[in-house]
Amino acid sequence: MTSVREIFDTMEYGPAPESAKPAQAWLEEHGSRFGHFVNGRFTKPTATFEVINPATGRRLADVSEGSRKDEDAAVKAARQAFPAWQALGGHGRARHLYALARIVQRNSRLLAVLESMDNGKSIRETRDLDIPLVARHFYHHAGWAQLLDTEFPGYHGAGVVGQIIPWNFPLLMMAWKVAPALAAGCTIVIKPAEFTPLTALCFAELAEQAGLPPGVLNVLTGDGETGAMIVDHPDIDKIAFTGSTEVGRIIRKATAGSGKKLSLELGGKSPFIVFDDADLDSVVEGVVDAIWFNQGQVCCAGSRLLVQEGIADRLYDKLRARMETLRLGSPLDKAVDMGAIVAPVQLERIRTLVEHGRNEGADFWQPTWACPTEGCFYPPTLFTNVAPSSTIAQVEIFGPVLVAMTFRTPSEAVALANNTPYGLAASVWSESINLALDVAPKLKAGVVWINSTNLFDAAAGFGGYRESGFGREGGREGMYEYLKKDRGTGGPEDRRTERANGKRRSGPSVIRSSGQTAKTAKSSRRAAELDDVDRGQLVDRTAKMYIGGKQARPDSGYSMRITGHDGRLLGEVGEGNRKDLRNAVEAAHAALGGWAKTTGHARAQILYYIAENLAARRDEFARRLTALTGGDGEAEVDACVERLFTYGAWADKYDGQVHQVPLRGVALAMNEPIGVIGVGCPDEQPLLGFVSLVAPAICVGNTVVAVPSETAPLAATDFYQVLDTSDVPAGVINIVTGPKDSLAKTLAEHDDVDAVWYFGSADGLKAVEVASAGNMKRTWCESAPRAWTTRDDGEGREFLREATQVKNIWVPYGE
Ligand code: NAI
Repeated sequence: MTSVREIFDTMEYGPAPESAKPAQAWLEEHGSRFGHFVNGRFTKPTATFEVINPATGRRLADVSEGSRKDEDAAVKAARQAFPAWQALGGHGRARHLYALARIVQRNSRLLAVLESMDNGKSIRETRDLDIPLVARHFYHHAGWAQLLDTEFPGYHGAGVVGQIIPWNFPLLMMAWKVAPALAAGCTIVIKPAEFTPLTALCFAELAEQAGLPPGVLNVLTGDGETGAMIVDHPDIDKIAFTGSTEVGRIIRKATAGSGKKLSLELGGKSPFIVFDDADLDSVVEGVVDAIWFNQGQVCCAGSRLLVQEGIADRLYDKLRARMETLRLGSPLDKAVDMGAIVAPVQLERIRTLVEHGRNEGADFWQPTWACPTEGCFYPPTLFTNVAPSSTIAQVEIFGPVLVAMTFRTPSEAVALANNTPYGLAASVWSESINLALDVAPKLKAGVVWINSTNLFDAAAGFGGYRESGFGREGGREGMYEYLKKDRGTGGPEDRRTERANGKRRSGPSVIRSSGQTAKTAKSSRRAAELDDVDRGQLVDRTAKMYIGGKQARPDSGYSMRITGHDGRLLGEVGEGNRKDLRNAVEAAHAALGGWAKTTGHARAQILYYIAENLAARRDEFARRLTALTGGDGEAEVDACVERLFTYGAWADKYDGQVHQVPLRGVALAMNEPIGVIGVGCPDEQPLLGFVSLVAPAICVGNTVVAVPSETAPLAATDFYQVLDTSDVPAGVINIVTGPKDSLAKTLAEHDDVDAVWYFGSADGLKAVEVASAGNMKRTWCESAPRAWTTRDDGEGREFLREATQVKNIWVPYGE
């Protein structure tokens, strides 16, 4: 008989299968055929397609392909349920969320087994990670519902939300989306991925049993076409999507100009950085979790191993030895490390990319043991000697494939780590806390794990930088994704009406220097003309643009004539173009590193100084504003001074948080600047609108390229003189005048602009949102006018939130 000692050495222990019975019983109860779950019950199955167990290739069930009619019925049910769900209040909803957490726990075996069978992931993972985290999300968000009134005053649920989720963590992704939406008071139409719809259907049925009112949660099954119908539906107020960057881009474009709120959690190619002082045995277990957990089908998988040169060979040897001991097999076997790949199409994708890697010349290695030949299995794979620019180093493989590269210095590690368009997550391994915490802020990633990897919790927001998407799931920041600010009587209905009307207050007009609107002429022809029009002190010059701390003439040589509210010519401004914007973005980039690192205290001093210098020139600015708009110029200047003080005040106070995650660690939620922000300023109250947007952006460390009001830009061009005397470093604020909509669109297209804010026409807004899909930059666009003078509408945390992105840095802490 084999001794325990021999088993310990060989690790050749037998299978420990989990019974499939609970899931089979549930499937049989439904005849293994499902309609959609709408308004509290299953619809009759129609247009069905098969759901396959990827480990066996056998059919599990038939589910229905959602049609336009199904979609309408689901949205209608959600819309009808919305008022009562909203009216139930935070406490009422907290009780429901608590009940959902409890029912998940009570049915955890059923859900874990069903998930394993549907997705192919190991029962160890569904049982120990997916399902407990699902319950944790509902508990955590029961708390947010309870605290909604006190913690989110002045906000209401965004309305009916459409949610589209992927197949890699089917029930967990559902919980990440459903829990905050329910807490906020939204009602839901959710579409699980076509490969893995079963746990969503099962959960919806359980939720109904737990007393969730009909119509609050509706589940539509189907593929991308059903997803696209949700995205396009006119009666949906918000779309939340997790999946590929490719589809995220389609959704960004499809929702542009619709006024729908949007959050996107997309792909990644996350670095796993190992310094030469790291504990290599821990690193090896970390790598197993980073890339072989869930067969590598994890958006934040540590798929790029970056190793300091001196230890690379030693680490690779240890990894190969560990890979030999990984067990791969039936997902329901409690003793396997890796289960099946979700579907043949994904398996094929992995194979193709691996082939590509081999052809590109990287060194390929797989363990000697054989993979099962039945079902969708793929062995753990290691590529070493990988070129940073090669396909396998850049493209998300979404499989158990690790690509390794070496670096020499910490700065080289950071450069390599940031060398992809993505920015979802990163792991840093070093026994030196100084080194690890020096590197963490430099990584472009929404989550950074120090000496750990793939840790998740409902209290710590999750989401990406750059082309990994925008918006966060979990934590306080995740709640805002499902909330809208009250404005006046402003429920969602009112905002929709405002959007539809799209009316903005009219201001002074622009006449291009040919004398006709929208035509151009060389500015050299204008001086005498101006003198004829107005000999008063308001007309003095052609205002220059302001780029990199210097006055700049427009590249085009053209200018635009600016008339006041009474039709008098007040001056001219340069007509900026693509080249001027390029220069301004370059200047903003050059200034970014230094400005982002400047202390909040120092930034506050500068904001106060701007305010002081503006106040000193109050009369001059007030006269200019009155001439431009016919409004009360003095009041507008005073409001600007006050607003600058507000952000001087905030500059050293918009702190992050420390999340107490239920692990041996804390998560430092740092509010980081986004980078270079392009700002298309509103036309109403031209100086106050400009200050209200630029000040919060720079207050938290961004640099700005601002396009001032097209109709009254002189207020902002005068402002650069104030900046010049206020110690604002060159390039922190750049001002490009000209046709706002086309300049804002160009900013949205620019790959080196990280976010665009646009306040203007409905058409301009749509163009910005469509163009932003290029590098998936964050946008903040509004076509309904704001009451800029009020504190509620014109300043505060809402602005600071838009100006920052949260990076959660998980740090070991305590016992
Ligand atoms: P996908 O992005 O196509 O699918 C995700 C979800 O979006 C599914 O529910 C799908 O039905 C839906 N969908 C597809 N097209 C849509 C459209 N036009 N409008 C609305 N919804 C649509 O991802 P897929 O094809 O399943 O996987 C392809 C690759 O995407 C993977 O190899 C991986 O690289 C990446 N991926 C990333 C995920 C992540 O968590 N970041 C999750 C799943 C896939």
